[in-house]
Amino acid sequence: MRVEVVPRAPETVAAPLTAVLVAADRPFAELDALDRAAGGVLGRAVRAGDFKGRRGDRVLGYGGGWEEPAPAPVGARGGPDRVLFLGVGDSASLAREDLRRAGGSAVRTAEDHRVSSLALCPDHLGGAADSSRVQAAVEGLVLASWRFAELRSGQGGSGTKTGAGGERTPPPVETAVLVGRLAAEWEEPARIGHAFAEGENLARTLQARPGNVATPSHLAAEAGRIAARAGLECEILGPAEMEAERMGALLSVARGSREEPRLIVLRHRGGEAGAAPLVLVGKGLTFDAGGISLKPAKGMEDMKYDMSGGAAVLGAMMAIGRLALPVNVTAVVPSSENLPGGSATKPGDVVRSRAGKSIEVINTDAEGRLILADALHYAAEWNPAAIVDCATLTGACVIALGHHRSAVLGSDDGLVGELRGAGDRAAEPCWPLPLDREYRKQLNSDFADLKNVGGRPAGTITAACFLSEFVGSAPWAHLDIAGTAYGRTKKPYLRNGPAGVPCRLLLEWVRARAGR
Ligand code: BES
Ligand code: ZN
Ligand code: ZN
Repeated sequence: MRVEVVPRAPETVAAPLTAVLVAADRPFAELDALDRAAGGVLGRAVRAGDFKGRRGDRVLGYGGGWEEPAPAPVGARGGPDRVLFLGVGDSASLAREDLRRAGGSAVRTAEDHRVSSLALCPDHLGGAADSSRVQAAVEGLVLASWRFAELRSGQGGSGTKTGAGGERTPPPVETAVLVGRLAAEWEEPARIGHAFAEGENLARTLQARPGNVATPSHLAAEAGRIAARAGLECEILGPAEMEAERMGALLSVARGSREEPRLIVLRHRGGEAGAAPLVLVGKGLTFDAGGISLKPAKGMEDMKYDMSGGAAVLGAMMAIGRLALPVNVTAVVPSSENLPGGSATKPGDVVRSRAGKSIEVINTDAEGRLILADALHYAAEWNPAAIVDCATLTGACVIALGHHRSAVLGSDDGLVGELRGAGDRAAEPCWPLPLDREYRKQLNSDFADLKNVGGRPAGTITAACFLSEFVGSAPWAHLDIAGTAYGRTKKPYLRNGPAGVPCRLLLEWVRARAGR
């Protein structure tokens, strides 16, 4: 989606739809000029008691644009064809998420009316339209515009394709204009919100691709394209390089598949040369059938999402590069399939990790921690300022926290606190679980240095405990996103399926570390 900022009175700006954010606690008289452009519908709705500016209140009016000989492009001089007054509640208590949802609702309304551009006006919020809220509104617009149509038949993608129920899908909403009197101050937050949301949209697209498209080598090729577009360095390790690096845990997972594994490294050098980097690690398991410890058939198609952590990290890196954030950031995405081929690792096999620790593979379905073990150990050698990994790691996390919050666990309480704050700002919240040394006992093996599963109790904690064995002394935290990375959560800026979580959480964290 293209986003522009137009510093003019909204009633003078041409648009097929102008969504006006209305605060409940400010004088509606400020909206008189806009209401005249909408045929007076707001005044009548207010007098009827139907519109009070509460969250969810909405009224649509029609402007004079229909008399024009030809529709003017969005942002040109003219006026709105349609005006949507969207209540957001009291300006004093507005959360960023209220603005994100309002932006999403505006885009859904544009889709309902089959128009491909819209304007959004936050003027009526007054001082509440600060940079964090403007950023959130733009995120809502751009996130809502995401769709995944590349595997459907039909030309061009606009309005000709049919959806799941056979209905005609509306044309994509391609342009949004932020319009208003204070627009000059909104350029920077709009740029940030746009980049963050486009990063997350990229993550969603990679997530949505099925396992026969998004293979490890596909992800590596995408990483190369992201690097070229965003000015990053890209390095890819294949099986030979992994052998040379003695990444026996990662290689053991790939053995059951014909697809070669890849380890993707992206570098953003935005900070001082030689300054310790922030490291983002994401699980890039492109299809998890469980290996020899085969998963049940029901719902197995969702295991194409087992690369969601890697997708979020790649999306975050695109935004970090494009925004040229003044900090050094390195991304590592270990990527493999987990299939039960004839050469697959078997339960009871012992493999040797890059760290030199031997691992008894009790259950080949606990593969995420194996590929992450070697990736984390590789990254820890760079003396990072902090390592944050994210992974669809355990079904136990879905039982513990459901689909609303990710789990966060780590060796550094300060870092865990930073991630909680970043998650709250992004509305991608996480909640801490403990990592006491007591849990390590569950990983004791009779045949190796440790085993890869710790039994049913505290499954999310023992998985994180396993990872902690490979991070050395670096400050490290782990996000288990098994319940949050995809699903059917209803929000106006989301669709069913991939959510892109925790891409914006990571971005909020990196940006805070960069002092921006
Ligand atoms: N990718 C799965 C975890 C998962 C489960 C993600 C459900 C999303 C939704 C992971 O590789 C896995 O299979 N974990 C096992 C570990 C167990 C064998 C110790 C699990 O959680 O059942
Ligand atoms: Zn698994
Ligand atoms: Zn998995």
